[in-house]
Amino acid sequence: MTHPAFQAGNGAVVTGAALGIGRALSQHFADLGMKVAMLDVDAGRLREATDAVGANALPLVCDVSQTADWDNVRRTLEGAWGVPPSVLVNNAVTRTGRGFDADPEDWRRAIDINIMGVVNGVRCFRDAMESSGRPGLIINVGSKQGITNPPGHPVYNLTKAAVKSYTESLEHDLRQAPDRAVSAHLLVPGWTTTGTAEHKPGAWLPDQVVDHMMAALDRGSFYIICPDGEVSTEMDKRRILWAAGDITEDRVALSRWHETGKAAFKDR
Ligand SMILES: NC(=O)c1ccc[n+]([C@@H]2O[C@H](COP(=O)([O-])OP(=O)(O)OC[C@H]3O[C@@H](n4cnc5c(N)ncnc54)[C@H](O)[C@@H]3O)[C@@H](O)[C@H]2O)c1
Repeated sequence: MTHPAFQAGNGAVVTGAALGIGRALSQHFADLGMKVAMLDVDAGRLREATDAVGANALPLVCDVSQTADWDNVRRTLEGAWGVPPSVLVNNAVTRTGRGFDADPEDWRRAIDINIMGVVNGVRCFRDAMESSGRPGLIINVGSKQGITNPPGHPVYNLTKAAVKSYTESLEHDLRQAPDRAVSAHLLVPGWTTTGTAEHKPGAWLPDQVVDHMMAALDRGSFYIICPDGEVSTEMDKRRILWAAGDITEDRVALSRWHETGKAAFKDR
Protein backbone atom coordinates (compact mmCIF):
# COMPACT_ATOMS: atom_id res chain seq x y z
CA MET A 1 0.00 0.00 0.00
CA THR A 2 1.35 3.46 -0.88
CA HIS A 3 2.36 5.41 2.22
CA PRO A 4 -0.39 7.93 3.09
CA ALA A 5 2.09 10.83 3.07
CA PHE A 6 2.11 10.56 -0.74
CA GLN A 7 -1.49 11.71 -1.21
CA ALA A 8 -2.27 14.08 -4.06
CA GLY A 9 -2.43 17.66 -2.78
CA ASN A 10 0.12 17.04 0.00
CA GLY A 11 3.39 18.98 0.02
CA ALA A 12 6.90 17.58 -0.50
CA VAL A 13 10.21 19.40 0.02
CA VAL A 14 13.24 18.07 -1.85
CA THR A 15 16.75 19.52 -1.53
CA GLY A 16 19.35 19.31 -4.27
CA ALA A 17 16.37 19.10 -6.62
CA ALA A 18 17.92 20.65 -9.73
CA LEU A 19 19.74 17.49 -10.81
CA GLY A 20 19.96 13.75 -10.47
CA ILE A 21 18.07 11.84 -7.82
CA GLY A 22 16.53 15.00 -6.30
CA ARG A 23 15.07 15.99 -9.64
CA ALA A 24 13.74 12.48 -10.30
CA LEU A 25 12.12 12.35 -6.85
CA SER A 26 10.53 15.77 -7.46
CA GLN A 27 9.15 14.61 -10.80
CA HIS A 28 7.73 11.46 -9.23
CA PHE A 29 6.03 13.33 -6.39
CA ALA A 30 4.61 15.93 -8.83
CA ASP A 31 3.27 13.10 -11.02
CA LEU A 32 1.45 11.77 -7.93
CA GLY A 33 -0.32 15.14 -7.74
CA MET A 34 1.73 16.45 -4.83
CA LYS A 35 2.92 20.05 -4.52
CA VAL A 36 6.72 19.96 -4.63
CA ALA A 37 9.06 22.63 -3.28
CA MET A 38 12.29 22.06 -5.18
CA LEU A 39 15.25 23.53 -3.30
CA ASP A 40 18.68 24.04 -4.81
CA VAL A 41 21.57 26.48 -4.60
CA ASP A 42 21.97 26.60 -8.39
CA ALA A 43 19.24 29.01 -9.51
CA GLY A 44 19.73 28.47 -13.26
CA ARG A 45 19.58 24.67 -13.17
CA LEU A 46 16.72 24.84 -10.68
CA ARG A 47 14.62 26.93 -13.06
CA GLU A 48 15.22 24.42 -15.88
CA ALA A 49 14.28 21.56 -13.57
CA THR A 50 11.07 23.11 -12.25
CA ASP A 51 10.01 24.03 -15.80
CA ALA A 52 10.46 20.37 -16.75
CA VAL A 53 8.68 19.01 -13.67
CA GLY A 54 5.65 21.18 -14.37
CA ALA A 55 2.95 23.15 -12.62
CA ASN A 56 3.18 21.32 -9.27
CA ALA A 57 6.81 22.41 -8.80
CA LEU A 58 7.81 25.47 -6.82
CA PRO A 59 11.46 26.56 -7.23
CA LEU A 60 13.10 27.86 -4.05
CA VAL A 61 16.74 28.89 -4.16
CA CYS A 62 18.24 27.68 -0.90
CA ASP A 63 21.72 26.87 0.31
CA VAL A 64 20.94 24.08 2.74
CA SER A 65 23.90 25.01 4.93
CA GLN A 66 22.34 28.42 5.69
CA THR A 67 19.68 28.58 8.40
CA ALA A 68 18.48 31.95 7.09
CA ASP A 69 17.68 30.30 3.74
CA TRP A 70 15.65 27.62 5.54
CA ASP A 71 13.76 30.35 7.44
CA ASN A 72 12.81 31.84 4.06
CA VAL A 73 11.69 28.45 2.79
CA ARG A 74 9.50 27.90 5.86
CA ARG A 75 7.92 31.36 5.56
CA THR A 76 7.29 30.92 1.83
CA LEU A 77 5.66 27.53 2.28
CA GLU A 78 3.54 28.68 5.23
CA GLY A 79 2.15 31.33 2.87
CA ALA A 80 1.84 29.05 -0.18
CA TRP A 81 0.60 25.81 1.44
CA GLY A 82 -0.63 26.74 4.91
CA VAL A 83 0.29 23.27 6.17
CA PRO A 84 3.72 21.68 6.71
CA PRO A 85 5.11 19.30 4.11
CA SER A 86 4.17 15.63 4.37
CA VAL A 87 7.47 14.55 2.83
CA LEU A 88 10.93 16.04 3.40
CA VAL A 89 13.87 14.66 1.42
CA ASN A 90 17.31 15.91 2.46
CA ASN A 91 19.24 14.97 -0.68
CA ALA A 92 21.57 17.90 -1.52
CA VAL A 93 25.26 17.04 -1.63
CA THR A 94 28.66 18.47 -2.27
CA ARG A 95 31.55 16.24 -3.23
CA THR A 96 34.06 18.97 -2.49
CA GLY A 97 37.23 17.95 -0.67
CA ARG A 98 38.23 14.40 -1.54
CA GLY A 99 41.37 13.31 0.30
CA PHE A 100 43.29 14.02 3.47
CA ASP A 101 45.02 16.93 1.75
CA ALA A 102 41.70 18.76 1.30
CA ASP A 103 41.76 22.37 2.51
CA PRO A 104 40.16 22.99 5.90
CA GLU A 105 37.70 25.17 3.98
CA ASP A 106 36.61 22.16 1.90
CA TRP A 107 36.25 19.95 4.99
CA ARG A 108 34.12 22.67 6.55
CA ARG A 109 31.99 23.13 3.44
CA ALA A 110 31.35 19.40 3.10
CA ILE A 111 30.32 19.21 6.76
CA ASP A 112 28.14 22.31 6.44
CA ILE A 113 26.27 21.04 3.36
CA ASN A 114 26.20 17.26 3.74
CA ILE A 115 25.66 17.11 7.51
CA MET A 116 24.33 20.47 8.66
CA GLY A 117 22.16 20.75 5.53
CA VAL A 118 20.30 17.65 6.73
CA VAL A 119 20.13 18.85 10.34
CA ASN A 120 18.86 22.26 9.20
CA GLY A 121 16.13 20.71 7.06
CA VAL A 122 14.92 18.55 9.93
CA ARG A 123 15.06 21.48 12.39
CA CYS A 124 13.03 23.56 9.94
CA PHE A 125 10.10 21.14 9.52
CA ARG A 126 10.14 18.31 12.08
CA ASP A 127 8.13 19.99 14.84
CA ALA A 128 5.45 21.29 12.49
CA MET A 129 5.20 17.91 10.74
CA GLU A 130 4.80 16.11 14.06
CA SER A 131 2.32 18.55 15.57
CA SER A 132 0.15 18.50 12.43
CA GLY A 133 -0.68 14.87 13.29
CA ARG A 134 -0.65 14.05 9.58
CA PRO A 135 1.34 11.10 8.19
CA GLY A 136 4.84 12.31 7.37
CA LEU A 137 8.17 11.04 6.07
CA ILE A 138 11.65 12.45 6.56
CA ILE A 139 14.05 10.82 4.11
CA ASN A 140 17.76 11.55 4.45
CA VAL A 141 20.06 10.47 1.65
CA GLY A 142 23.19 8.64 2.72
CA SER A 143 25.68 6.50 0.86
CA LYS A 144 27.25 3.06 1.07
CA GLN A 145 30.48 5.01 1.56
CA GLY A 146 29.05 6.12 4.90
CA ILE A 147 28.55 2.47 5.90
CA THR A 148 31.53 0.51 4.54
CA ASN A 149 33.94 3.48 4.33
CA PRO A 150 36.03 2.65 1.23
CA PRO A 151 39.45 4.35 1.18
CA GLY A 152 40.11 7.43 -0.93
CA HIS A 153 37.24 9.72 -0.01
CA PRO A 154 37.55 10.47 3.71
CA VAL A 155 35.70 13.79 3.53
CA TYR A 156 32.60 12.47 1.77
CA ASN A 157 32.63 9.21 3.76
CA LEU A 158 32.74 11.10 7.05
CA THR A 159 29.74 13.21 6.13
CA LYS A 160 27.70 10.25 4.93
CA ALA A 161 28.55 8.23 8.07
CA ALA A 162 27.20 11.18 10.04
CA VAL A 163 23.97 11.20 8.01
CA LYS A 164 23.47 7.50 8.85
CA SER A 165 24.11 8.07 12.55
CA TYR A 166 21.90 11.15 12.68
CA THR A 167 19.01 9.51 10.83
CA GLU A 168 19.06 6.42 13.07
CA SER A 169 18.93 8.69 16.14
CA LEU A 170 16.17 10.76 14.57
CA GLU A 171 14.00 7.73 13.83
CA HIS A 172 14.47 6.47 17.39
CA ASP A 173 13.42 9.85 18.73
CA LEU A 174 10.39 10.14 16.44
CA ARG A 175 9.26 6.67 17.60
CA GLN A 176 8.89 7.94 21.18
CA ALA A 177 5.91 10.15 20.29
CA PRO A 178 2.56 8.67 21.33
CA ASP A 179 0.48 8.09 18.17
CA ARG A 180 3.49 9.06 16.12
CA ALA A 181 2.72 9.92 12.51
CA VAL A 182 6.17 10.88 11.24
CA SER A 183 8.99 8.44 10.50
CA ALA A 184 12.56 8.89 9.30
CA HIS A 185 14.30 6.77 6.65
CA LEU A 186 17.83 6.43 5.28
CA LEU A 187 17.92 6.24 1.48
CA VAL A 188 21.21 4.81 0.22
CA PRO A 189 21.54 4.89 -3.56
CA GLY A 190 24.00 2.62 -5.31
CA TRP A 191 26.00 3.78 -8.32
CA THR A 192 23.60 6.08 -10.13
CA THR A 193 24.11 8.24 -13.19
CA THR A 194 23.36 11.80 -12.13
CA GLY A 195 24.33 15.37 -12.79
CA THR A 196 25.96 15.75 -16.16
CA ALA A 197 27.71 12.36 -16.10
CA GLU A 198 27.51 10.03 -19.10
CA HIS A 199 25.44 6.91 -18.38
CA LYS A 200 27.62 3.80 -18.13
CA PRO A 201 26.53 0.17 -18.14
CA GLY A 202 26.31 -0.98 -14.55
CA ALA A 203 24.96 2.28 -13.17
CA TRP A 204 21.31 2.77 -12.30
CA LEU A 205 19.27 5.71 -13.50
CA PRO A 206 17.67 8.04 -10.91
CA ASP A 207 14.17 6.70 -11.71
CA GLN A 208 15.30 3.22 -10.60
CA VAL A 209 16.32 4.69 -7.24
CA VAL A 210 12.91 6.35 -6.95
CA ASP A 211 11.07 3.10 -7.72
CA HIS A 212 13.21 1.16 -5.24
CA MET A 213 12.60 3.80 -2.56
CA MET A 214 8.84 3.86 -3.08
CA ALA A 215 8.61 0.06 -2.80
CA ALA A 216 10.77 0.07 0.35
CA LEU A 217 8.65 2.78 1.97
CA ASP A 218 5.52 0.75 1.21
CA ARG A 219 7.12 -2.07 3.22
CA GLY A 220 8.01 0.38 6.01
CA SER A 221 11.79 -0.11 5.65
CA PHE A 222 14.08 2.29 7.48
CA TYR A 223 17.26 1.29 5.61
CA ILE A 224 16.64 1.66 1.88
CA ILE A 225 19.80 0.28 0.29
CA CYS A 226 19.69 0.29 -3.50
CA PRO A 227 21.63 -2.24 -5.54
CA ASP A 228 22.88 -1.28 -9.00
CA GLY A 229 23.83 -3.12 -12.18
CA GLU A 230 27.17 -4.16 -10.69
CA VAL A 231 26.49 -4.64 -6.99
CA SER A 232 23.70 -6.94 -5.92
CA THR A 233 21.81 -6.77 -2.62
CA GLU A 234 23.62 -9.97 -1.59
CA MET A 235 27.00 -8.34 -2.22
CA ASP A 236 25.98 -5.24 -0.26
CA LYS A 237 25.00 -7.45 2.68
CA ARG A 238 28.37 -9.24 2.57
CA ARG A 239 30.25 -5.94 2.48
CA ILE A 240 28.27 -4.46 5.36
CA LEU A 241 28.70 -7.59 7.48
CA TRP A 242 32.42 -7.68 6.68
CA ALA A 243 32.81 -4.05 7.79
CA ALA A 244 31.04 -4.83 11.09
CA GLY A 245 33.29 -7.90 11.41
CA ASP A 246 36.38 -5.68 11.41
CA ILE A 247 35.22 -4.57 14.86
CA THR A 248 33.84 -7.82 16.24
CA GLU A 249 36.74 -9.93 14.91
CA ASP A 250 39.45 -7.43 15.97
CA ARG A 251 40.79 -7.04 12.42
CA VAL A 252 42.79 -4.11 11.02
CA ALA A 253 40.65 -1.11 10.03
CA LEU A 254 39.10 -1.41 6.57
CA SER A 255 40.49 -4.93 6.19
CA ARG A 256 38.66 -5.44 2.88
CA TRP A 257 41.34 -3.23 1.35
CA HIS A 258 44.27 -4.70 3.37
CA GLU A 259 46.37 -7.74 2.44
CA THR A 260 45.01 -9.63 5.45
CA GLY A 261 41.39 -9.11 4.48
CA LYS A 262 41.22 -8.97 0.69
CA ALA A 263 41.51 -12.69 0.04
CA ALA A 264 39.52 -13.67 3.12
CA PHE A 265 36.62 -11.47 2.03
CA LYS A 266 36.59 -13.05 -1.43
CA ASP A 267 36.69 -16.57 0.01
CA ARG A 268 33.76 -16.14 2.39
N1 LIG B 1 24.84 9.40 -7.75
C1 LIG B 1 25.29 8.40 -7.03
O1 LIG B 1 25.92 7.45 -7.56
C2 LIG B 1 25.08 8.37 -5.55
C3 LIG B 1 25.53 7.25 -4.83
C4 LIG B 1 25.32 7.22 -3.46
C5 LIG B 1 24.69 8.28 -2.81
N2 LIG B 1 24.27 9.36 -3.54
C6 LIG B 1 23.62 10.44 -2.81
O2 LIG B 1 22.40 10.77 -3.46
C7 LIG B 1 22.13 12.17 -3.29
C8 LIG B 1 21.90 12.81 -4.64
O3 LIG B 1 23.07 12.61 -5.41
P1 LIG B 1 23.12 13.01 -6.94
O4 LIG B 1 24.23 12.22 -7.53
O5 LIG B 1 21.74 12.92 -7.52
O6 LIG B 1 23.56 14.53 -6.84
P2 LIG B 1 23.88 15.59 -8.02
O7 LIG B 1 25.32 15.92 -7.90
O8 LIG B 1 23.35 15.11 -9.34
O9 LIG B 1 23.01 16.82 -7.55
C9 LIG B 1 23.24 17.42 -6.32
C10 LIG B 1 22.42 18.69 -6.26
O10 LIG B 1 22.66 19.30 -4.98
C11 LIG B 1 22.76 20.70 -5.20
N3 LIG B 1 23.49 21.33 -4.12
C12 LIG B 1 24.83 21.32 -3.89
N4 LIG B 1 25.12 22.08 -2.81
C13 LIG B 1 23.95 22.57 -2.35
C14 LIG B 1 23.58 23.42 -1.28
N5 LIG B 1 24.53 23.95 -0.46
N6 LIG B 1 22.29 23.72 -1.08
C15 LIG B 1 21.34 23.22 -1.92
N7 LIG B 1 21.62 22.42 -2.96
C16 LIG B 1 22.90 22.10 -3.17
C17 LIG B 1 23.49 20.82 -6.54
O11 LIG B 1 23.32 22.11 -7.10
C18 LIG B 1 22.83 19.71 -7.33
O12 LIG B 1 21.69 20.16 -8.03
C19 LIG B 1 23.33 12.74 -2.55
O13 LIG B 1 23.03 12.86 -1.18
C20 LIG B 1 24.43 11.72 -2.78
O14 LIG B 1 25.39 11.71 -1.75
C21 LIG B 1 24.44 9.43 -4.89
